[in-house]
This record gives sequence, structure tokens and C-alpha cells, in this order.
Amino acid sequence: MLHLRNDTKNRSRLDHTDIFGETPAMDGDQIKNAAELLAKGELVAFPTETVYGLGADATNAIAVAKIFEAKNRPSFNPLISHVAEVAQVRRYGVMTELAEKLADAFWPGPMTLVLRRSDGCPVADLACAGLPTLALRVPAHPIAHDLLTAFGGPVVAPSANPSGSISPTTADHVRDGLGSSVSMILDGGPCDVGLESTIIDASGENPVLLRPGGISLEQIEEVVGPVQTADHNAKISAPGMMKSHYAPDASVRLNAAEQADGEAYLGFGGYDGAGSTLNLSEAGDIREAAANLFAMMRELDRSGAKAIAVAPIPMTGLGLAINDRLARAAAPRD
Ligand code: TXA
Ligand code: MG
Repeated sequence: MLHLRNDTKNRSRLDHTDIFGETPAMDGDQIKNAAELLAKGELVAFPTETVYGLGADATNAIAVAKIFEAKNRPSFNPLISHVAEVAQVRRYGVMTELAEKLADAFWPGPMTLVLRRSDGCPVADLACAGLPTLALRVPAHPIAHDLLTAFGGPVVAPSANPSGSISPTTADHVRDGLGSSVSMILDGGPCDVGLESTIIDASGENPVLLRPGGISLEQIEEVVGPVQTADHNAKISAPGMMKSHYAPDASVRLNAAEQADGEAYLGFGGYDGAGSTLNLSEAGDIREAAANLFAMMRELDRSGAKAIAVAPIPMTGLGLAINDRLARAAAPRD
């Protein structure tokens, strides 16, 4: 029997505890090493009750960029931030009444809530793909819980598989898929749920199901009443899919080798502007560019420029995802 590190009161409230089976013991040194690697900006794969996650320090944009690199993702999906305790969720997201109810019923467990980012939320813009909201989860798996406790801060973790392939439910799956791009894999045996967490947008008054998963719709409706499903709200359901979703107020001009009059300029490598200008990576490092992208776009937008010209970004490695994001920012608006 696994030892959930929460009180028994909490445990009896969860009617899904039977999904958790035997879990191999993990020695404290391994957890400590893993937490130290995260603090150094390295990637650590760890088991959760749903699937294995590919973890990185959510507040370190370079570490977050490494995730997209390792997964070979062609676009920047917003990621889920994992924390050890509900109290930490309150630090990073704005808990609504609805969120409190859901948290009370299903955390720790296979549920993710989308909330508005709190003021001063330290999670990197890249982890939220520039959105004003943040996905948060308190996993129930004891190894995940111990790792998050040892690390102390939010850990972003998408499923630990290359983009487009099946989510991993054993440490071997992670090894086969990601191999050397991950610094450490904590082996917790097979995952009990084997299906990703249920994602609910709880940022407003009414719950919206964004992704079905480990907690059923019926279970959720028992606690909060009727839930809208993503079909009714395609806008929220797939933030990364909306063409002009990432648009700043300023218009955006791509592949601009030079800055025109009145334009702010987002440079890269040797492409540099003057006046209202920032450089994604003077060294021409694509990972650094990814890490800076959302924060710099936002800053240039805030400068009040009517147009932002962006230097050509090579289509190698994370360049694919950067160009995808930029194409959305430059797409016609409705
Ligand atoms: O079970 C799980 O949730 C696993 C384990 C590792 O925790 N993680 C996982 O992450 O499935 P990932 O990255 O594969 O899926 C994250 C989902 C994406 O569909 C993304 O669009 C959504 O969460 N998401 C993240 N932030 C969001 C936001 N602010 N608004 C709406 N959707 C968001
Ligand atoms: Mg996934």
C-alpha cells in the first residue's frame, strides 16, 4: 500500500484512492539529487499517478525551453505547473470559489486547474505560452510529492515523451523516448491511472472541461454541478491552436532584416536594431531565444510601438516553435 503524505481525512474524501497500487520505495538521496538537478536547470523525469512527467524548474525560462527541445515540439503549448501542496497553488494562481471546491475534493490527484496567474507569479512566461492563466496540479504520487517538496517551487512537466508519441507510463518508456536529453529518471514503476489529468478551467464562475482525464466528468459534476465541455468553448480549449491567439497589441512584421521608422525591433544574433529594441539572443542561441520570446514580445508591446519587426529566426531546433508562435502573432486578427 502506498503512503499518501496527506492526512487520512483528506484521503477518505478521495473516492479514487483505489487507483493507487504498490509503489517501489525511493531513497531520499535520489530525491535530493533530483531536486538539486532541477535547481540547476536540468530536466528530471518523474512518475505521477497519471503518466511520467518531464520536469523542469517552472521559474527558469531556459530550463523550460529545454523541455520543448527535448520533446521536439513544433509549437509552445502551455505547460502544467506541479506543486506539492494546495497552499502553494494559492501563491501562483488566483483561487476562485469554484477552484476551492474542486481542490478540496480532488487534490492531491489527477486533476489540473487553469487559474488566473497571481500578481508576481514567478512562473516563466514561456511555461504559460504568454497566457494570463496558469495550469496547476497537485499530484498524489508519493515520489512526485517528495520531489516537489524537496525542490520547494513549481515544476512544469508535460508528459515525458517526444511530441506526437504515446504518453509514458513506465520509466522504460521515458528512457526509450527521451534517452539522453533527460538528466535523471526517477523510477516509480508503472503509473496507476495511465491517462493524463483532467483539465478544468476554474478561472471563472463556471467550470469548463478542457481535457477529459483521470477524474471523470461525473465525479466533477457531483461536486460542482453541470460542467461545460470544451466543444462549447473552443476558444479556451485549445489556446495554442488559435491562429491569432498570441497576438500583441502592436502589429508584427516577420523576417525583418532591418527595422523601419517607428517600429520596435526584436533582434536575434547579429540582427540588431536601435531605439526600442531587444535581442532574443545576441549569441544566436536558439534556446536562449525561446526562453526570452514571450517576455520580450510583451515588453516591446508595452513600449507603445505600433509595430514590432522581428529578425529572421532559423528553423533549426526550437526555431520551429519560435517561428510558429511568431506566425500566430503576425496572423490577421478578427
Ligand atoms: O497528467 C498530466 O496532466 C501530465 C502529468 C505529467 O502531470 N501532464 C500533461 O501535460 O499531460 P501536457 O503538457 O502533456 O498537457 C498539458 C495540457 C495541454 O493540453 C495544454 O494546452 C493545457 O494543459 N494547458 C496548460 N496551460 C493551460 C492554460 N493556461 N490554459 C488552457 N490550457 C492549458
Ligand atoms: Mg502530452
